[in-house]
Amino acid sequence: MSSLSEKDKLHVWHPFTQAKTALAPLVITRAEGVWLFSEDGKKYMDVNSSWWTNIHGHGNKYIADKIREQFLELDHVIFAGVTHPKAVELSERILNLLNNDFQKVFFSDNGSTSVEVAIKMVYQYWFNKGISKKRFLAIEGAYHGDTFGAMSVGQRGNFNQPFEHLFFDVDFIPFPTAENEKDVLKSIEALFQSGEFAGFIFEPLIQGAAGMRIYSADFLDKAIQLAKKHQVLTIADEVMTGFYRTGTAFAINQIKARPDIICLSKGLTGGVLPLGLTVSTIEIYNAFLADETAKALLHGHSFTGNALACASSCASLDLLLSDNTLNAVQRITNSHQKFVLEHSNNPMFDSINSLGTILSISLKTDEGNSYFQQIRDRAYQYFLAHGFLIRPLGNVVFVNPPYCITDAELESVYKVILDFGASLKK
Ligand SMILES: Cc1ncc(COP(=O)(O)O)c(C=O)c1O
Repeated sequence: MSSLSEKDKLHVWHPFTQAKTALAPLVITRAEGVWLFSEDGKKYMDVNSSWWTNIHGHGNKYIADKIREQFLELDHVIFAGVTHPKAVELSERILNLLNNDFQKVFFSDNGSTSVEVAIKMVYQYWFNKGISKKRFLAIEGAYHGDTFGAMSVGQRGNFNQPFEHLFFDVDFIPFPTAENEKDVLKSIEALFQSGEFAGFIFEPLIQGAAGMRIYSADFLDKAIQLAKKHQVLTIADEVMTGFYRTGTAFAINQIKARPDIICLSKGLTGGVLPLGLTVSTIEIYNAFLADETAKALLHGHSFTGNALACASSCASLDLLLSDNTLNAVQRITNSHQKFVLEHSNNPMFDSINSLGTILSISLKTDEGNSYFQQIRDRAYQYFLAHGFLIRPLGNVVFVNPPYCITDAELESVYKVILDFGASLKK
């Protein structure tokens, strides 16, 4: 063990880690493009874009220059009663990218807080209108973050059991599949008819942490239409899906219905700095306008609207909307689709699917697909030993790389996954 990992063991408490049994963490000291370089001179491909955030690759010089310029101009300033050029520019550009279907942008720090804010907007919208609606609807398997509101609308289980008694009232509909879609829509309508539902939150088209599970655009369209019909506010949690992950700028671009609120984070800053946005319609915003201060959204964080994170986001948008990146998104999308076609009958896989730049492969095992399976650890170690940082979710191995990945690098990712699958049979 290096002295750095020894000191880490002494002082650091890592996320999602059982420290008693965990191996020493990788010590990464440098990163460039899709590559992470470790203290001991090895390199690893960042196949999952560092928790699904890094869309342009590491150490991007353009983003670095823009952050530096911003730092010398204005680093950070209180955002209550104050504004600054980059926050305004970012808001304008995000609303534009969302086709101006939404009108207001609220700033926070990360994906969980963007969801927390969305949930508070929904509850307070009804409260301010003097209408009692207390229930929320979510989809089984959902993951919306680790703060209390976000946990409440997420899948219950090992991750949040100690806190369950503190969660608010949430109904979960089954994950929609081709077989059950019609029944699920019927049960949504039956629930909404109660008139008690304040909001419905979902990860549009694909559930991330549940194992990159894809569901149909048609289902989502119809579910949102039902919510509109019964005056239930809808929150599209695009924290993972935003910024071309699913092939379009946002997953909701693949449906007709429009939700009321969008949550954004992860790829927003290019995956370089923490920032969350909760984007709402003017109708929601207007419900907070009153003579009483108490009717305002009395929520904020010290780093709300951080100027460096805003500059990083604007720079990331410049890169994202360039032909170079849009072509790369299409190239990765095509490559994944080709791989899926070639391996749709591969006996090593339970299922294989792709959505835009996300490839999701469920490995065949006898262990079921819980996050806590042993196959996950074996796969993780195998990939590391071969120079790939891939963090499977249970038996689901997925590929959501930075968009600067080359064809040859992508081929090498497919190959190591196939090699791991083959090694299981030995
Ligand atoms: C769909 C979704 N929402 C919210 C979050 C929480 O984001 P954060 O980890 O930045 O708090 C995540 C994180 O993976 C996510 O995938």
